[in-house]
Amino acid sequence: MSQHLLLPVVILVVSPIPGAFQDSAASPTQGEFEDLDCGRPEPSSRIVGGSDAHPGTWPWQVSLHHGGGHICGGSLIAPSWVLSAAHCFVTNGTLEPAEEWSVLLGVHSQDGPLEGAHERAVAAIVMPVNYSRAELGYDLALLRLDSPARLGPSVRPVCLPRASHLFAHGTTCWATGWGDVQEADPLPLPWVLQEVELKLLGEAACQCLYSRPGPFNLTFQLLPGMLCAGYPEGRRDTCQGDSGGPLVCEDGGRWFQAGITSFGIGCGRRNRPGVFTAVAPYESWIREHVKGSEPGPAFPSQLQKPQSGPWEPGEENCSFAQPECGKAPRPGTWPWEAQVMVPGSRPCYGALVSDSWVLAPASCFLDQQPRISDSSSVALETWRVLLPSRREEERVARLVPHANASRDSASDLALLQLRTRVNLTAAPSAVCLPHREHYFLPGSRCRLARWGRGESAPASAQLEAQLLNSWWCHCLYGRQGESVPPPGHPPHWLCPAYQEEEEKDSGWSLLCREEGTWFLAGYRTLSNACLPPRAFYPLQTHGLWISHVTQGAYLEDQLTWDWGPEGEETEKQTCPPRTEHGACGLKPKATAAGVLWPWLTEVHVTGDRVCTGILVAPGWVLAATHCVLRLGSTIVPHIEVYLGRAGVSTLPQGHQVSRSVVSIRLPRHLGLRPPLALLELDSRVEPSPSALPICLHPGAIPPGASCWVLGWKDPQDRVPVAAAVSILTPRLCHCLYQGILTPETFCVLYTEGQEDRCEVTSAPPLLCQTEGGPWVLMGMAVRGSRELFAAVDPEATWISQTVGEAHFLHLSGSPYWHPEGSDHCPQNLAGAASSPKVAALLLLLSVPLIRG
Ligand code: ARG
Repeated sequence: MSQHLLLPVVILVVSPIPGAFQDSAASPTQGEFEDLDCGRPEPSSRIVGGSDAHPGTWPWQVSLHHGGGHICGGSLIAPSWVLSAAHCFVTNGTLEPAEEWSVLLGVHSQDGPLEGAHERAVAAIVMPVNYSRAELGYDLALLRLDSPARLGPSVRPVCLPRASHLFAHGTTCWATGWGDVQEADPLPLPWVLQEVELKLLGEAACQCLYSRPGPFNLTFQLLPGMLCAGYPEGRRDTCQGDSGGPLVCEDGGRWFQAGITSFGIGCGRRNRPGVFTAVAPYESWIREHVKGSEPGPAFPSQLQKPQSGPWEPGEENCSFAQPECGKAPRPGTWPWEAQVMVPGSRPCYGALVSDSWVLAPASCFLDQQPRISDSSSVALETWRVLLPSRREEERVARLVPHANASRDSASDLALLQLRTRVNLTAAPSAVCLPHREHYFLPGSRCRLARWGRGESAPASAQLEAQLLNSWWCHCLYGRQGESVPPPGHPPHWLCPAYQEEEEKDSGWSLLCREEGTWFLAGYRTLSNACLPPRAFYPLQTHGLWISHVTQGAYLEDQLTWDWGPEGEETEKQTCPPRTEHGACGLKPKATAAGVLWPWLTEVHVTGDRVCTGILVAPGWVLAATHCVLRLGSTIVPHIEVYLGRAGVSTLPQGHQVSRSVVSIRLPRHLGLRPPLALLELDSRVEPSPSALPICLHPGAIPPGASCWVLGWKDPQDRVPVAAAVSILTPRLCHCLYQGILTPETFCVLYTEGQEDRCEVTSAPPLLCQTEGGPWVLMGMAVRGSRELFAAVDPEATWISQTVGEAHFLHLSGSPYWHPEGSDHCPQNLAGAASSPKVAALLLLLSVPLIRG
């Protein structure tokens, strides 16, 4: 059997488009087509945001069936010809055989017996040779029927425009079809043909809308032969399944087909009007291919020429529609906050998502009414909903719990329909909901708001939060085996960071702001056994269900998506061991690519000095004062900090993060300049494999710890190196450095051969780690010294007061600083600091070292 099967039934005529975009008003052949009456429905009566058409209103509308179901629309242009979209017939670059298609004519409802309708087989499909994808234009096709349609009251052809026909922008036209009524939401039974009124948009206005980048920086270039129709505010549009169907405009009592439904970004989205194939430019192409069939399509001349023309004011700057949801002038007083009152229990907090629907946890009502799924058994009569700025309470018409509400706490949602629609103004107003592909950026500004039947502490209703990146969220909550959902895929959880220690027994919704617009991003309900603390279920996986039920909730496109280099790379990383909330001192495993010291910070001070800094909290770096501030100088230098890099290059498995320092904080000390300084960063550094805060451990050296001086071999190339050290006992230290030692300074002894691994002008830190435990910062090098480190621990209170989020371990361990017993030092040791090693060796037997 030959692989190259030729199908004799298919007469595929592929041909160029002669003069497709030329004005062929003076076409010599037009007369022969004028005899067919077109574009006149017998006088009698989705498309997104449309309504049922009356039978017989659009008698040229046909339904194209393939594999037993409706796939696309089309329009009858002559008894034997149907016009449709090329993309309907091409899958993966190949044309579906014509004999697999059938054309249904004169249908109104596609459910049940199709009275008055009849079917025709397709003899041939013709499309422009230039067609490849709908977005690249030429999206039209001609279908030749195997026998002529039976014309009658419900089957009549539409008029085709001549190339010179001008459809003025602003004209309202109609699109029809059996397509989805919202994105991924099919037309419900009985599948009645939908109609929607759409406004023609000028080319420039449409291009202007599509040039503004959408989520994931999507833009689109409108091409000649395309036209747009719809509204900047969206909500009315064609959708999947409408393709190939007609967009018709009236002229002098006849309906002319201006466009063929082709594509769009989503359906009914704001600032994303539908794109149609313009029919007029294809006059001669159509004439060419229907030549010889009698009667052919009719191209009546235009009666009402638009007054002014051409129809493109050169630089038509479009006005973008603003979101109609999520406006809260005062964060904390939420205009969508709905209190559902069920007699006999505390109010349940939810959110208004449209003018007639409230979203709330289903568990609010489940514990009330065990048989909630049977909505009729619920006494909705007595329920009331209180909305902001409405004195009257709303009554509830319907309760629709999520199908999995009682099984799965991630679906603990219910929708309540109000008896009457409310007028959406400043308050009440609806919150915006995210589409499935929404990516709330790490660092997004969020708030927690009341949700469900929680404590209604008003102060907590103001809780501020900031979103952690999904890698960190994933590491925190142990989905280590799975890969992190990349931007554009719904996350398993959302992790906001917030200060409040007591979340009590309360449910919270997570509201996140983008460009001043609030989205309901997630929720956690009371006593969710499966949900880790502080994690939220993302709402974006429920958008379809919500829009399907409500037919009008405000699903809004993502408004900020420019996450820069920091947002993207962490997803590929493996998690550090023992990651948990508030964890510190974690160090990802060294890989072949290199070792990461995620808290090690390069502190670049004006005038090319580079000091070592240590990240102690997302917005704070600790450094040695003497390194960042010149002695005696009162000039505050400009400081930039970098994490996740080694010298000039980014660490192979990290990514570079930079911040500038907005303030240098010193503890209040009398006299001497304090040895440690805190640098406040201009914005937080979210956890990532190259930026994790260190732990602090006041008062003691973690028992059994090994300690290291972490620095650079060379201040120029700054490749991190660690030198193993032992911390000397205070007594030995005191004896070795008599006279020069300031209190609370650690002295260290380097392990053989490690002493000059790090250079000292950058003031390297001293760190300790217990076996398998977190890394702890002990001190920062004292000016000019390799062995002396100013201890962090005397400044613990100041650090915690200044930083708030610093991580203090409360481990055991014997206190390091204890009152000096006596000042008796062995004779030969005094002043031996110049050769501490020799001195220490001399004394090893009498004074024990603290293990390193
Ligand atoms: N391509 C779709 C179809 O095959 C039509 C999409 C129209 N989309 C829109 N937003 N206008 O049915």
